[in-house]
Amino acid sequence: MDILIGLQWGDEGKGKFIDLIGSDYDIIARFNGGANAGHSIYYQGNKVTLKLLPSGIFSSHVKNIIGTGVVVDPLTFKAEIEELAHIMPTQDLFNRILISQKAHLVLPTHRYWDIYMEQSPLYRTIGTTKNGIAPSYSNKILRQNLRVGDIHSDSFNTDVYQILHRQYNELQLLGQEMPAFEELYHDFIQGCTSLKQVPIIDTEIFLNKAIRDGKKVLAEGAQATLLDIDHGSYPYVTSSNTIASAACVSLGVSPKLVDKIYGVTKAYCTRVGNGIFPTEITGQAANDLREKGAEFGSNTKRPRRVGWLDLPALKYAIMLNGVTQLVLTKADILNEMADIPVCTHYEIDEQEISLAFPQSAEQEIKPIWKYLKGWNTDFSNIKHANLLPETLGAFISFLEEELQVPINYLSTGPQREELINLA
Ligand code: GTP
Repeated sequence: MDILIGLQWGDEGKGKFIDLIGSDYDIIARFNGGANAGHSIYYQGNKVTLKLLPSGIFSSHVKNIIGTGVVVDPLTFKAEIEELAHIMPTQDLFNRILISQKAHLVLPTHRYWDIYMEQSPLYRTIGTTKNGIAPSYSNKILRQNLRVGDIHSDSFNTDVYQILHRQYNELQLLGQEMPAFEELYHDFIQGCTSLKQVPIIDTEIFLNKAIRDGKKVLAEGAQATLLDIDHGSYPYVTSSNTIASAACVSLGVSPKLVDKIYGVTKAYCTRVGNGIFPTEITGQAANDLREKGAEFGSNTKRPRRVGWLDLPALKYAIMLNGVTQLVLTKADILNEMADIPVCTHYEIDEQEISLAFPQSAEQEIKPIWKYLKGWNTDFSNIKHANLLPETLGAFISFLEEELQVPINYLSTGPQREELINLA
């Protein structure tokens, strides 16, 4: 099994890369998060943003697994299927998806908990997508949640009714605005119809058998390393483990069976929501970078925070994941820059730190910059590594030397075919 993860705060361009290499695989499996991903891929010339479905959905030979560690909102699942039904037959979609019976459900009240907690002065504002992901994971840990497999049980409607009713009453007491209870309940039950069309199975047994039979499996990470619930900048993180080892836990595949670990990084940094961002820039430089890089949320359209490449954090992410090959994206956004700043170290309490991700917002983190010569050329039409501008080659070599991992792929633009294999 190979694993692909983002090495920063998400939006690194994982979708595009999976889109390209995905057809080499027989199975693509999502292992974390829920409908809060936003993988942008191209199908028949249209840009499609997949929120919950794995990125192999457009390949007829690929089985797409939603693993145990994912939280599934039947309503967003249905909406995503309905949207894709405009461009491909629904039955093809259903034939290509398998869902773990042990994946947890996101209930409508989870969404309202998320909204409530984001807006109430009594709680920390995290900057979530308000999709109910964190409340669903919390209910899983509390052992109070329903799972995808429950959907076929005779008592499913009654169980949903009870849990929803309790959560609805709690939210009402807190003053959260919501539609009428019966409406919420019936919409949810109705929304489960699409989920019922898909095989709900023991995906770990399916996957292990497939690997034994020589099938190629790609575990597709959503969000990214620095948002990991344990290793990211808590509390401004996502609610699941995002790092490579989480693929093994979620999919029930032994670490012994992992082969390549692809890490995707931009040539600069972006972050959505609150939290530590040592190399963040503000003002006109930030506006320019944001505009050039189209750094606005693919689902939410929120402007992303932007900054320069952060090597201490990138080294930390590479270490956590055991990355074997790097994919560098969005270097083209820096095409017109004379000098490209890269943070090689942090200065914290008069010490130089070259590999870390700081946890305390109270520490003063001073980035130490190195300015690399820009390439001042549009390289989007170049298809071979040896035709790249020398200065871009030097930039890549510098990163490989610092990170001690080869950059095997260079993305040269947003389009599907804009990628050079450097290996
Ligand atoms: P999340 O799962 O939400 O973290 O997203 P992601 O990592 O899959 O990123 P996504 O696929 O949404 O990519 C972000 C955007 O960047 C998409 O519109 C891509 O087409 C675009 N993109 C990817 N690589 C490049 C690149 O090398 N250059 C440029 N200019 N755009 C790129």
